Amino acid sequence: MRRDVLDGRKKCRRPMAGDAGFQPLKARDKPPSRTIRKEGRGAMNDRTNLVDRITGHRRMRRNRKADWTRRLVRENRLTVDDLIWPIFVVPGSGIAEPIAAMPGVNRMSVDKAVEAAKEAAGLGIPAIATFPNIEMALRDETGSDSLNADNLINQATRAIKKAVPDIGIITDVALDPFTSHGHDGILRGGEIVNDETVEAIARAAVIQADAGSDIIAPSDMMDGRIGAIREALDAAGHQNVGIMSYATKFASAFYGPYREAIGTGGLLKGDKKTYYIDPSNGTEAIRDAALDVEEGADMLMVKPGLPYLDICWRMKEAFGLPVFAYQVSGEYAQIKAAAANGWIDGERVMLETLLAFKRAGCDGILSYFAVDVARTLAKR
Ligand code: PBG
Repeated sequence: MRRDVLDGRKKCRRPMAGDAGFQPLKARDKPPSRTIRKEGRGAMNDRTNLVDRITGHRRMRRNRKADWTRRLVRENRLTVDDLIWPIFVVPGSGIAEPIAAMPGVNRMSVDKAVEAAKEAAGLGIPAIATFPNIEMALRDETGSDSLNADNLINQATRAIKKAVPDIGIITDVALDPFTSHGHDGILRGGEIVNDETVEAIARAAVIQADAGSDIIAPSDMMDGRIGAIREALDAAGHQNVGIMSYATKFASAFYGPYREAIGTGGLLKGDKKTYYIDPSNGTEAIRDAALDVEEGADMLMVKPGLPYLDICWRMKEAFGLPVFAYQVSGEYAQIKAAAANGWIDGERVMLETLLAFKRAGCDGILSYFAVDVARTLAKR
């Protein structure tokens, strides 16, 4: 279809070779040299209007015309190697209990978590991230059970490491599963105190590494935690234990189902705005990540995921370190709920969202879909 037929703008069309009134390009019609210098030759200012009279520009659909051309020009791919699977652990044995707001996700006792880790490893998933639902009786103002070498998270690490040595284990040191108020830090006189919390989580990191954790992932957003954790790990001889910083964690409403999963939803007083980043702020997020890079983070994470793809991209560009996105519980729940209603194709949306993270520069994604995706990819 000719453009002039489509929009009736025939008079506006530049006369082309063969048209009455056609004149070859004059020097001043050429792209200004400033543009060439800025974008480099071969950038997107090339013109094909002299050869394609209908569109006046390059025909983008040529590369999309068949499955084989589309595969040939595909820029990003999602593979099982991109996946980290977050799981929820509860005390007891033989337990796999569903989480209402996260259909398809279970809280598992350590023995079941071991089985799940085996399955994940069998599917080729590189790593799991564990989150404990601690007994209420063990939660207190300072989250003291986080410093117990035999607490639920460390039990899970030991058991999984023993049974499934080849899967990576990523553990969180934030205090929220352990505190009676659901905050990620120690609460003193109505304030989440920074330095005392950092001291506690650095100790917890060493204890988690002792239990066999491969990567410490602090999700608490206290200032100075990455450096303190690195120092503590090194002093304890854990030079090979890495740090995946929750570098940019936003004060988001997308965490709701997670709080149900670990039983902090009803406990939390107030919000986490004094330590998580304001969702309005992108530049502040990059600055915060820069501090984590300086302090020794090996990998960076953006959380939540899809609403913050701009941050993923900026972070990858700024630092060149491995960047991960956490597709959080609320993102998962949205997709599951819409799919359950028949409003979207759940499998296609799941794959599309994960691919979007790759396009935005992420090296991998923490996702509750990890096992589903691995199974789907294996069938292809
Ligand atoms: C807190 C923590 C959160 C998540 C994991 N650890 C956020 C919060 O409760 O404030 C969210 C994970 C998710 O929503 O999937 N340290």
